[in-house]
Amino acid sequence: MSKGFPNNFLWGAATSAYQVEGAAYEDGKKASQQDIINKENYTKRGFATADIASDQYHHYKEDVALMKEMGFTTYRFSIAWSRVFPDGVGEVNEAGIQYYRNLIDELLANGIEPIVTLYHYDLPWALVEKYNGWLSREVVKDFAYFARYVINEFKDKVKYWTTINEQSIIVQYWTQKCYIPEELRDNNQLRYQINHHMNLAHAIACKLVHELVPGGLAGAAIGYSPVYPLTSKPEDVMAAQNAHDLRNAFYLDIYFKGFYTKSALIYLEEHGLAPVIEEGDMELIKEGYSDFLALNYYASECAKACPMEEGKEIRYSGVNWSGKKGDMSGFETHPGFYEMCKNPNLDTTDWDWAIDPTGLEYIFRDIYTRYNKPLMVTENGMGAFDTLTEDGRVHDDYRIKYLRDHIEAMHRAIDYGVEVLAYCPWSAVDLLSTSNGVKKRYGFIYVDRTDDDPKECARIRKDSFYWYKQVIKSNGADL
Ligand code: BG6
Repeated sequence: MSKGFPNNFLWGAATSAYQVEGAAYEDGKKASQQDIINKENYTKRGFATADIASDQYHHYKEDVALMKEMGFTTYRFSIAWSRVFPDGVGEVNEAGIQYYRNLIDELLANGIEPIVTLYHYDLPWALVEKYNGWLSREVVKDFAYFARYVINEFKDKVKYWTTINEQSIIVQYWTQKCYIPEELRDNNQLRYQINHHMNLAHAIACKLVHELVPGGLAGAAIGYSPVYPLTSKPEDVMAAQNAHDLRNAFYLDIYFKGFYTKSALIYLEEHGLAPVIEEGDMELIKEGYSDFLALNYYASECAKACPMEEGKEIRYSGVNWSGKKGDMSGFETHPGFYEMCKNPNLDTTDWDWAIDPTGLEYIFRDIYTRYNKPLMVTENGMGAFDTLTEDGRVHDDYRIKYLRDHIEAMHRAIDYGVEVLAYCPWSAVDLLSTSNGVKKRYGFIYVDRTDDDPKECARIRKDSFYWYKQVIKSNGADL
């Protein structure tokens, strides 16, 4: 017999600062690396810049009112470091921090619990110029300075803190998520070095939450996909295990056990890819324990054996830039360890992301069984080309189906005994995709703009808006 969703279950949605706020250079804010990367994306591929994004900076009251109308009890968003400290460190930008005070107060006044992410890809550009950003260990102390300030500022208003967004995805797509100078882009060891610096930053942020926030809870937000073997051939099953260790366990073992997954570390060491670990690092990582795990789940993955062959080299995940099925530019390959591939059993989105609700149930059960900590969903959603039709509506039944199937899968996991705190699909309002401009939409609320023309960024309720409202009202019973 189904237990239903817990009475205090948090329903909401997510966004991140640079993807939604705009006002990239307003009220004292200076550039983040995403402002620069997205300018390049505009020149190279015609995708919108982050200058205006969804203009939430100017629409936040309207957005919160729409969230309230949908019945949200939570909203997950991130704080732009370079809005608070335009140069990364030093003088606080009063107008910048005031924006977040206003946003958080507006949420609380509407009964919406904030889930705050401290870092979502948008390092202050000043720190890239100063020491190459996350490539340098110096960033850890500057992150600590920023995190202490923000956590202290909101310690009485924010209970849930997510630290760093998607370290696993940063390793895969590092030039999209971090600004990496051209001449360093072939050095794959640096991917894991950046990740190590982020592990230190994550641990420091967890410690700060434990020190400063009464009853506060901290955890990373991780991009996570189950890895299925392509076939039941033992070599494919072994490859899927290898991929799981390097792509998944490698992060979770750090957050919950304080060590690097052995098999992954051995592989990295054998290939000269392992991070340099200094004395005291692993002790710090252990001290900065996580209270929960925030999961960003979109798709499952598939792996097959990858025998060593002449000319086969290590490569990382490709991207589908066009939104035409099958345009994916390649799969992660580690000769002798594993090779990622398409799962022939699953349909995909237009960007080749496998649609797999059961994968969500699978990871919930797997992670909860292994680490025994509460979980929350901080991202889950379907990127699609939405159409604003003549009736002034967006009929996104495909999105409703995607979300319904995933909520059902989450429900099955809860019935099985998994502790799930919140569901925050991606995204509350349409926003700037990390690699596909604004054409690839995720929101319940349509933002009327194109890649070339921000227009007024008017808000329009999609069909999924009304559907989600009903889901929340019935606490997940009416899907
Ligand atoms: C997650 C990120 O990886 O996926 C988000 O945390 C991102 O920032 C989301 O927007 C969807 O990816 P994309 O590339 O479609 O924007």
